[in-house]
Amino acid sequence: MEKYPGKKNTAVFISGRGSNLKSLIKYSRKKNSLIKIILVISNNPDAKGLKYASRSKIKIYRIKSKSNFENNSIKLLKKFNIDILCLAGFMKILSGNFIKKFSKPILNIHPSLLPKYKGLNTHERAIKNKDRFAGASIHKVTEKLDSGKVILQKKVKILKSDNVKSLEKKVLKIEHEIYPKAIDKFLTNF
Ligand code: GRF
Repeated sequence: MEKYPGKKNTAVFISGRGSNLKSLIKYSRKKNSLIKIILVISNNPDAKGLKYASRSKIKIYRIKSKSNFENNSIKLLKKFNIDILCLAGFMKILSGNFIKKFSKPILNIHPSLLPKYKGLNTHERAIKNKDRFAGASIHKVTEKLDSGKVILQKKVKILKSDNVKSLEKKVLKIEHEIYPKAIDKFLTNF
């Protein structure tokens, strides 16, 4: 179907706010970017990010059904010749079967310095443990949660005055910065 010379057909899965999606859309619109975002799929019909995507003239799909999410989304990924799938604030765990069936790279952004703090509440755990640094990581998605090879990560200092909210804000800023960079890195020399 659609093919853009020099750019990989990309799909993004989201579940909520979509600020990382926004940064990916901005990046994809740059002349030298290596991706073209073809579609955005959400498992949450009310995800805010969907509005931004459709305003940006990107096809959006809401797949509410838990049991059909994977089958329906695989069909769309195949139909639109998707080369790479980016998870951006996507709160559902994809099965090994899905990863195998799609057979193309899947990347995810995680708000911690992996392998530290896989799963949820990463900032809370970093503060509780009195860590000096927090950060964000982009990694390949494998069957094991938040465990695939890290492509890029960046850290920020945790100050004594930080709380979960302030840390989340600092890390989110980094997330927006490194996801596009990680895609570039992955598609050029990973
Ligand atoms: C981000 O912190 C992401 O790392 C985490 O969920 C948050 C989603 O934010 N998995 P957004 O939807 O991209 O704004």
